[in-house]
Amino acid sequence: MLKQNQLKTREPTNAKTNPSSGNSRFIPGLEGVIAAQSRLSYINGQAGELIIAGFPVEEIAPRASFEEMTYLLWNDRLPNRQELDEFRARLAKERRLPAIALDVLKAAAAQRVPTMDALRMGAGTLSLSKPAPTSDDTLFAEGAALLARIPTMIAAYWRLLHRQAPIEPRPDLSHAANYLYMLSGDEPSPQRTRALDTYLNTVIDHGLNASTFTALVIISTGSDLVSAIVGAIGALKGPLHGGAPGPALNTVFEIGEASRAESVLRAKLDRNERLMGFGHRVYRARDPRADVLAAAAERLYQNGGDMALYNLAKSVEQTALRLLAEYHPERKLQTNVEFYTALVLHGLALPTDLFSPTFAASRTAGWIAHCEEQREQNKLIRPSSEYIGVRGRRWVPVEAR
Ligand code: COA
Repeated sequence: MLKQNQLKTREPTNAKTNPSSGNSRFIPGLEGVIAAQSRLSYINGQAGELIIAGFPVEEIAPRASFEEMTYLLWNDRLPNRQELDEFRARLAKERRLPAIALDVLKAAAAQRVPTMDALRMGAGTLSLSKPAPTSDDTLFAEGAALLARIPTMIAAYWRLLHRQAPIEPRPDLSHAANYLYMLSGDEPSPQRTRALDTYLNTVIDHGLNASTFTALVIISTGSDLVSAIVGAIGALKGPLHGGAPGPALNTVFEIGEASRAESVLRAKLDRNERLMGFGHRVYRARDPRADVLAAAAERLYQNGGDMALYNLAKSVEQTALRLLAEYHPERKLQTNVEFYTALVLHGLALPTDLFSPTFAASRTAGWIAHCEEQREQNKLIRPSSEYIGVRGRRWVPVEAR
């Protein structure tokens, strides 16, 4: 694991020279503002490029296991065989949920709480079951326990919601295979496990997105890792961030056949609705993760899946891109990661309500890595606001107002 002093010496290189990091100009949504330095991922929005810990996403995501990918993010290098086996065993050992987490999930299921809210509530209980302190002075020991338990929590909640008993995790299965197993009780095929690994790897980290920034703000105050992850889950839940793939798939189902794509999508755009799975704050070219997941979806669907749905989605995508270019020629709106996320996860028989929680299960590894980076070079994140209110008001007693 990276130790504190390995990163502590890094000097901010752009704090004085980058004009957009100054505090005199209001930048809505902090668009383009550089608010951190990170070795974790690099996005070139104009070129449609994503690098994760040095690897192009299309090089590593379809090949690595999620455990290898997490090890890479947390250690800045791939593990050798022994390190990988140890890391897998460590995660597998931490998978079981403490009783309090199950109690909270049961109470949430009784009230039919939405899945992301249940995950946020369940994740909060994990501060009651922190692993014993170790000589490792990073956040990764606690992080491993958190990361290992999130899929167990999602699967347990889903089953409780459907009046089924949660399935105990199996330590002999990989992180991805065990997640699918805990949902259905069936051990997944290597192809299905590969598809989930590819998905989890593709979305593990993505620069200073809204949920990662949320986690950083929380950790920068000196708060704890569970609080940072709980806050990040709350940010990820929003439809403009991690909540898009469910609606994206619903749009494909609503369209039903390729000949209806233009009329349905045009009607949405005429109503000023957004087409879910398109557009991005940073990418002005095609999101490279869309290509990685389109290829993963194609392999999955060719292997006994619903090829008609895959072909319909392809056709919906082409129509959407044509209409978005017509309605917003200046914005260069392209397919984002969520469109093919929806197809991959649906092909794995995950219900739409589990799309965002499954995104969270992966991104937790990225959040933890960013929190550790922040902790190692910490400065309280505290931007300024521009005051646009009135001044000089005088107090008037309530009877006189
Ligand atoms: N469908 C239709 N119009 C879209 C659009 C979409 N998916 N995404 C952006 N636009 C339009 C907006 O309506 C706006 O038009 P206007 O200037 O005429 O009002 C313009 O493009 C700019 O949108 P804005 O929200 O200011 O840009 P942003 O950089 O903040 O948007 C997203 C980024 C992701 C929030 C936005 O593209 C979106 O809402 N996409 C759909 C949700 C989604 O797929 N989210 C997952 C992201 S990975």
